Amino acid sequence: MNIIVTGGAGFIGSNFVFYMLKKHPDDRIVCLDCLTYAGNLSTLEPVMGHPNFRFVKDDITDREAVYRLFEEEKPDMVVNFAAESHVDRSIEDPEVFLRTNILGTAVLMDACRKYGITRYHQVSTDEVYGDLPLDRPDLFFTEETPIHTSSPYSSSKASADLLVLAYYRTYGLPVTISRCSNNYGPYHFPEKLIPLMIANALNDKPLPVYGKGENVRDWLYVEDHCKAIDLIIHEGRVGEVYNIGGHNEMTNIDIVKIICKELGKPESLITYVADRKGHDMRYAIDPTKIHNELGWLPETKFADGIKKTIQWYLEHKDWWETIISGEYQNYYEKMYGNR
Ligand code: NAD
Ligand code: TYD
Repeated sequence: MNIIVTGGAGFIGSNFVFYMLKKHPDDRIVCLDCLTYAGNLSTLEPVMGHPNFRFVKDDITDREAVYRLFEEEKPDMVVNFAAESHVDRSIEDPEVFLRTNILGTAVLMDACRKYGITRYHQVSTDEVYGDLPLDRPDLFFTEETPIHTSSPYSSSKASADLLVLAYYRTYGLPVTISRCSNNYGPYHFPEKLIPLMIANALNDKPLPVYGKGENVRDWLYVEDHCKAIDLIIHEGRVGEVYNIGGHNEMTNIDIVKIICKELGKPESLITYVADRKGHDMRYAIDPTKIHNELGWLPETKFADGIKKTIQWYLEHKDWWETIISGEYQNYYEKMYGNR
């Protein structure tokens, strides 16, 4: 099996590349990534010399480059992780989100139609369902929950999902979609909540909690997400959407307090800052479908996953210190300087 994995130099994509090379040693993995600020070639260092791995630096919106790669590789499957993924950046500048997340998806699927594949898998997000109220803990997102987005990021992901389903119905492209809750784990870019708080706490810097810190996310260890996608591309039904979630809802403030405790840092570092515009209150996935159809269940408990994650950041300071010492400083100043 020859699989193109787009966005494989980012957080979840790189974890997926590692997982697949180990789990399916006979498969070939071709990573297509244009290395935006969020893509990091050093992350893929351990597999660069692997005989069944190839890295290609190209943009998924570049039709010519994508067709050339399909011509060369004749892939059996495509798993699309490539995206602009940060809600705060989408609020500052939506355009690149529309280009990569929507147009890029269309280009990849056009290539799939032209050259033929057995599966196109779209990695999507629970954010396409909008948010749930804090006072209705009985409500969860199912695959039937209507699309109802809040941010330019989630709107671009929802648009891509609709296109994927349209390519299934119109052209019969063999697609699947997974909609996952918030991931955490190794190689998570330090602009996101958990790695940002770990890095700041280790540097004794303020921990910027948006609003009151009451917003709830459903956290899933990244390897559990990779396992779910592996199951879907091999055993999932074509044309179907599968929700993936950890049944692990936590408020942001509780997460930050756990990080302080694990690192032995004082909670006085916590600083409440201006809220995110249009901030979603609560995400919560009902993963019954993927459990019943494919037998998937999250395996890593949050208490263990967060310890492993913190340990990883302690042991891989070079990886994130290089990132936060560069262009990221301008980003941080812009987003948090006067907040
Ligand atoms: P990330 O931002 O860490 O990585 C994105 C990767 O895509 C980077 O390597 C980047 O260089 C690459 N990329 C961006 N634009 C590209 C383009 N035009 N052409 C080629 N490559 C490009 O993102 P992530 O957190 O790993 O998320 C991966 C996917 O999973 C995204 O589609 C995201 O919407 C989805 N998702 C993420 C989460 C989460 O918690 N992080 C949850 C659910 C779904
Ligand atoms: P984030 O990691 O950006 O993921 P998403 O917005 O896709 O869920 O943020 C997770 C939650 O943490 C979200 O409610 C916003 C909040 N947050 C903060 O309070 N402070 C921060 O500095 C960041 C980056 C996020």
